[in-house]
Amino acid sequence: MNLTMEEEIRSRKAFAIISHPDAGKTTLTEKLLLFGGAIHLAGNVKARKTQRYATSDWMELERQRGISITSSAMQFNYKGYVINILDTPGHQDFSEDTYRTLTAADSAVMLIDVAKGVEAQTIKLFEVCKKRGIPIFTFINKLDREGKNPIDLMDEVEKVLGIEAYAMNWPIGMGGTFKGIYDRQSGFVDRYAAGNRTENSGAPQSGLIGDPEVQSGIGEELLQRLQEDIELLDMAGNQFDMERVNRGEVTPVFFGSALSNFGVPNFLDSFLKLAPGPAARTSNQGELDPLNPEFTGFVFKIQANMNAMHRDRIAFIRICTGRYERGMNVIHTRSRRKLRLAQPQQLFAQERTILDEAYAGDIIGVHDNGILRIGDVLAEKDGLEFEAMPFFSPENFARVSIKNALKRKQFIKGIQELQEEGAIHVFRDLHIGVEAPVIGVVGQLQFEVLEYRLRDEYGVDVEINHLPYEIVRWVPKDEEKIKILKDSSMSLVVLDQDENYAVLLLDKWKANWMSERYSIEFLEQPPLLRE
Ligand code: G4P
Repeated sequence: MNLTMEEEIRSRKAFAIISHPDAGKTTLTEKLLLFGGAIHLAGNVKARKTQRYATSDWMELERQRGISITSSAMQFNYKGYVINILDTPGHQDFSEDTYRTLTAADSAVMLIDVAKGVEAQTIKLFEVCKKRGIPIFTFINKLDREGKNPIDLMDEVEKVLGIEAYAMNWPIGMGGTFKGIYDRQSGFVDRYAAGNRTENSGAPQSGLIGDPEVQSGIGEELLQRLQEDIELLDMAGNQFDMERVNRGEVTPVFFGSALSNFGVPNFLDSFLKLAPGPAARTSNQGELDPLNPEFTGFVFKIQANMNAMHRDRIAFIRICTGRYERGMNVIHTRSRRKLRLAQPQQLFAQERTILDEAYAGDIIGVHDNGILRIGDVLAEKDGLEFEAMPFFSPENFARVSIKNALKRKQFIKGIQELQEEGAIHVFRDLHIGVEAPVIGVVGQLQFEVLEYRLRDEYGVDVEINHLPYEIVRWVPKDEEKIKILKDSSMSLVVLDQDENYAVLLLDKWKANWMSERYSIEFLEQPPLLRE
């Protein structure tokens, strides 16, 4: 069946799953992909115990298992929808990358472990979503195990995260006594079959709550507790208000068990009905409606060496408006150059499929040979710009140098490519060459990732010498002022990738002091450079 462009775009849903490690994100992703027939065996996605390994092992595992920090977008079709799941890196130090990934999502699914409740990483990622103002749907997982009281959990979500929670369905018992979930709107009870961890086949009779067979299956005690809970929710709970959901003020809450695939279809069906499609984007040419037929998109992620078999670099593009066609010419706003996007790819695990077309709401990966940068805009028309990608100032600095001088070329290439991915900020010390750049990162862990990737992908061993600086400020090209900064023992003057002067400083207090004392204007971001 041929759909019109409008129908295609309206069928798109792009979302990210956010959670604390171990809450079940991989399991849930895997189940969702199974609905679309995207993978054949649930066991395809393995090695989940990532957080129990050292960083390097963990990265190796991520690489092997396919669905990972390296596979940024997965697409599947289900009930007439085209669903794009964006993978947010699980580790806390990747907040920069996560933020950028979330700019490509129209909504988020917050996954919570019923026993653990709202955890540290959930809070961080939630804050990022909140800043973007996207709707957040909550899935409370692992109901097949004992956990916190659901009423308390709702309360925890509200108190800790400051968002109102509205239960779409409600669990009947949990752990050993888990009997199923009750849908608040339809009154339908889905019964859970204990002991069957992979599929919920052979489940006891599901049906409306009034059905005597359903009631006797649940048992008197749990039935009574359900009635009390529902009364409490109806009377004292929040109201369902779609507009407030859309503004990220209310989160619809669902319960289930990803591992048993229980409650997942209920969640998915509801989510697809409620979650917004591609949102309009603010640009320098006004609000752009996704249905606008002209293609526009932006790069939100760049990844080199996606896997050992394809040693190349992929730029991930979120399509914002219109339709993308294989081989089409677009204008790269920053360089004003024409680009032919010849091989758009849909990426799933290690396999790649060449796409013939894609629409607003989709994520595509294109080969990049060094032209694209994060935040770059591609459009049919010249001069289009979207709101700038948020800039995260590095807070950790180190001088990174090669151990073996013969590897100089590979080292420079590696540093350059990782910089282009947005993983590191590279500065050049005025007195030292490119062999020992000053690297700035947001989170300390990124140094470990840098070291690992340089060794693994470029065959280069490096030495990392940490510097005491905590902030960077950009300074105007004023010889006199730069001399003052160079002479100061409290700062280090460096050049960024675009040859802008910047200064590394010990802390905010010293930065303010120097700025005032010598009347130097400190900028928190590099001055905008257009080629
Ligand atoms: P993550 O990506 O969020 O880190 O979590 P992941 O899916 O890897 O799940 C973490 C652990 O939680 C896994 O157990 C997984 O099987 C388990 N899990 C996920 N969903 C559920 C659920 O609904 N119920 C129960 N009981 N467990 C669930 P593991 O022992 O670490 O790994 P594995 O040996 O099962 O692969």
